[in-house]
This record gives sequence, C-alpha cells and structure tokens, in this order.
Amino acid sequence: MASKWSPGSNSRRTFLKNTTGLVGLTLAPMNQAEHTAPGPSVVQGATELSLRINGRVYSLRAEPRTTLLDALREYLHLTGTKKGCDHGQCGACTVHVEGERITSCLTLAIMQQDKAITTIEGLANGDDIATARLHPMQEAFLKHDGFQCGYCTSGQIMSAVACVREGHATSDDQCREWMSGNICRCGAYPNILAAIREVASRQ
Ligand code: FES
Ligand code: FES
Repeated sequence: MASKWSPGSNSRRTFLKNTTGLVGLTLAPMNQAEHTAPGPSVVQGATELSLRINGRVYSLRAEPRTTLLDALREYLHLTGTKKGCDHGQCGACTVHVEGERITSCLTLAIMQQDKAITTIEGLANGDDIATARLHPMQEAFLKHDGFQCGYCTSGQIMSAVACVREGHATSDDQCREWMSGNICRCGAYPNILAAIREVASRQ
C-alpha cells in the first residue's frame, strides 16, 4: 500500500522550495508594472504666487502646499489673522475671499490667486492709522467688550461682518447658530453677541 506521507515529498523544506518559485512568478509582473507605469505628475518646490489682499497685490514664492493662513502670516507678515487649531475647527483664521468668509487654514494660497482677499488689516476704512476709521463691527466689539485675551477676535470680527451681510444675525439664536464656527476660549460670547446684534440692528 502506498504511503500517504513521505519526508522526501512533503517536508517543510520541499514546501518552501516549491512555493518560493510561485511567489517569484507572482511578484515579477507586479515589480515590472511598478517600474513602467507612469506616475502622477507632481509639482515640486517653491513656485511664484500672486495674492490680492486688501486691495494690494503681493508676490511671494511658496510651495504649492502652503495654506492661505501660512502665506498671510509667515510669508507676508499679515499676522492679524490667527492660527488656533489649523484644522478648520476654531475660526480664528477667518478671512473673506470674494466677500465670503472662509477658514484660511483649510485652503491653499495657490487656489486663491486673483481673488479679492480681505483680512482684519483691511477692514478699517483707510490705510493711514491717524485718519482711518474702524469698521462698525470693530467699534461695536470695543464698545461691548467683545474680547478678553483677543486671540479669537480677528476671526470673530471677520465672521461677524459676513454673518450680518448674509442676513444671519436677525435674532440672538440665529446669530449664535451662524457664529458657532468661531470658538472663544475666554467665553466672551454674550459680549460678542451684543456687538453683532447692535450692528445688525442698524442694517
Ligand atoms: Fe483655522 Fe482654527 S486655525 S479654523
Ligand atoms: Fe480669548 Fe476669545 S477673547 S479666546
């Protein structure tokens, strides 16, 4: 009677010897494909960017992955726009692009070229510090003490201006809802709300 098992035919060594060949066969086409397939085109290194901010055109060299927030703060030294979370969760980095509020940490500078960008530095009326008039929202924040440490304030004000313009500040509850993307760790919310509602009531 023929034996079902013999060390010569079914040993671990034989098994490895046979399967190594199979694995080699299987992997060979994959390796080949890896070498011949065209890769995605990658833009590397710094590139020229042009940004229109507060009515002025700024040129800079930055990597395509640079966020608008980093372009403003690190390259153009417009540090009024703050970095809180860098993840779109706190609103400290809010600016306007073509009049719409956006979190500048969640967009790339390269995507915002040739668009009208407004930051907190461009909100006051006039460049001359002696004659410039604060925006009514800035005045209202001062009047109502809409801040404590001030870190969230530029984002709050930029968001508040857009909130009123959008018609989303017609009641306290609506205002709270549409300002909920702007976090204040100091808890100045009642004062912020009072400032926004005062400006909205004049519309
Ligand atoms: Fe952009 Fe927080 S820093 S949302
Ligand atoms: Fe301090 Fe808002 S005033 S975080």
